[in-house]
Amino acid sequence: MKSISKKDIKIILNQQLEHLIDAISNGKNPYHTFTLGTLNANQSEIRTVVLRNIEKEPLRIFFNADYRSPKVAQLLKNSNCSALFYSFQSRAQIRFKAEATVHYDNKISKSIWKKTPLQSRKCYMGDFKPSKYLESWDPNIPSKYLKTDPQKKDSESGFKNFTYIELNIIETDILKLHHDGHIRFKIDKKNRMEFVAP
Ligand SMILES: Cc1cc2nc3c(=O)[nH]c(=O)nc-3n(C[C@H](O)[C@H](O)[C@H](O)COP(=O)(O)O)c2cc1C
Repeated sequence: MKSISKKDIKIILNQQLEHLIDAISNGKNPYHTFTLGTLNANQSEIRTVVLRNIEKEPLRIFFNADYRSPKVAQLLKNSNCSALFYSFQSRAQIRFKAEATVHYDNKISKSIWKKTPLQSRKCYMGDFKPSKYLESWDPNIPSKYLKTDPQKKDSESGFKNFTYIELNIIETDILKLHHDGHIRFKIDKKNRMEFVAP
């Protein structure tokens, strides 16, 4: 039987962090999107978002959202949330428990908005609050920009709806699938690593 040590799981953790870092700019990496879980009173809510950045030590992951969206309201009410990643390439699942900080109309969100391409900015220029019920179909992007990008000056109107959300990781749970025995471990806020039954 193979033997797996704490040194081995440290290597797996670092490989997974590298895989996550690659996913920020690599749309083909399965970690490019993740499932975000929030709390809406007693109801859990989940949806897909795009991974925009990672900071190590302390570990934080980031995504963009529309300030008017229900997920932002939920995070402002209760910052406890979770993030789920699965990579068929590395046959690994990462589950994060996190606490969210919503960056809205501040120095940080401004610096991210400055780097946001015009093509992405138009997603924040729609008239409707995301998830609002509609009388009829509407893509929620100004119709003149459906097939083109806005001018930079016009795109600035999207900033009032833009948020950059930071997830401060409280616990990491990694499950790595292997034909000869899956490996699972958790890392807490103090960076303590423990094996967990897969
Ligand atoms: C591939 C994919 C990527 C998405 N990325 C984001 C994202 O980065 N941020 C975001 O707010 N919504 C994103 N969405 C849309 C959300 O999944 C969701 O439908 C929308 O934001 C409304 O969610 P809410 O009602 O929970 O706020 C994405 C959806 C898909 C399918």
